[in-house]
Amino acid sequence: MASSRPRVLQYGKMPLPQLDADLAQAYEVQILSEQADPGRFLAEQGAQFEYLVTTAAMGLPARVVDALPNLKFVSSFGVGFDALDKDALLRRGARVGYTPGVLDDCVADMAWALLLDSARGLSAADRFVRRGEWSQRRFGITTRVSGKRLGIFGMGRIGSAVARRGAGFDMEVAYHNRRPVEGSPHLYQESLLELARWSDFLVITAAGGENTRHLVNDEVLDALGPQGFLVNVARGSVVDEAALVEALQSGRIAGAGLDVFEDEPRPHADLLALENAVLAPHVASGTHETRRAMADLVLENLQQFIATGRPAVEVPW
Ligand code: DGY
Repeated sequence: MASSRPRVLQYGKMPLPQLDADLAQAYEVQILSEQADPGRFLAEQGAQFEYLVTTAAMGLPARVVDALPNLKFVSSFGVGFDALDKDALLRRGARVGYTPGVLDDCVADMAWALLLDSARGLSAADRFVRRGEWSQRRFGITTRVSGKRLGIFGMGRIGSAVARRGAGFDMEVAYHNRRPVEGSPHLYQESLLELARWSDFLVITAAGGENTRHLVNDEVLDALGPQGFLVNVARGSVVDEAALVEALQSGRIAGAGLDVFEDEPRPHADLLALENAVLAPHVASGTHETRRAMADLVLENLQQFIATGRPAVEVPW
C-alpha cells in the first residue's frame, strides 16, 4: 500500500544522525547520495519530490534543482546559503528555509577557541607534551590576548556574539560591514583594510558568496601585519587561501585559526604543515545542543511549509 507520508528527498546524510532518523520517521525519505546512480535516480524519480532537505555545507547545485520539476520547498540545515544555487531555486519558484539564530553562541565560542589557540599555542603545546617534551624554553613564548584589539568583519548575529566575548577579555572592538550597525557601541571602520590595520585579531564572520569572495587578500593580510592573527569561522571563500598560506609561511602575519576553507574538504596542502595555523573541519556549530536546535528548526520549517505554505524561517535572498 502506498504511504500517505509526504515524500522528501534528502540530498545527503545529515551531520546529526538523529535528524536522519527523525526525517525517516515523519516522511517517506530517499537519500540522493545513497543511490547507486544519482543522475539516473533523478531522471527517473525527480518529478515525485516536492520537498528536499540539505545542509549549508552540502548546498544544492543547479543540476539537482533542474531535475526536480515539482520542487516547492528546501529545508536547509545551517545559516549560510551561499552553496544553494539561488538562480536555479528562484527559476523553479522553490522557497528555502534555514536555521539562523540558534548557532550564534557556538560559532562565536569556536571563533574564540581558535583565537585563543592560535595566540597561546594550545594545540602546539598539546603536540609538544605528547612528544615527551617539557622545556618551557624550547616551547617558546606566545601572544597575550587580553586587552588587545579585536576586529570583526561581519557584525551580524555571530559577529555580535564574538564581540560580547571580547568584552570579557577587556578588548577594544571595531568592525567593518557594508554600512554601520545602528546603535552598535563598537568602532566602525570604513574599510576592511582599515579594520585589518587597526586589529590585533581579525575575526571573519561575514557571509560567503560572490560579494565577499577573496576580500581578505594580500593587502588585507599585510595590513594585519606580523603581529596579527586571522580567525575565520564564516566561509573559506572570503579569504584568498593561497595568499594566506604565503603570509603565514613568510611571517607576514603571526598566525591563523581556521574552521572553514576554500575547497572543503581539502584545505590547501601547505596549511597542513604550518605550526602557526590551527585547523578545524568546519565544525563551529557542532555541539549537541546547537545541532539539535538546528535539526528541530529543519523539521519545523519543513512541517510548517507543508502545513501552511510558509516555513518558520525563510532565506532572505
Ligand atoms: C552554517 O550553518 O552555515 C555552517 O557554517 C555550516 O555550514
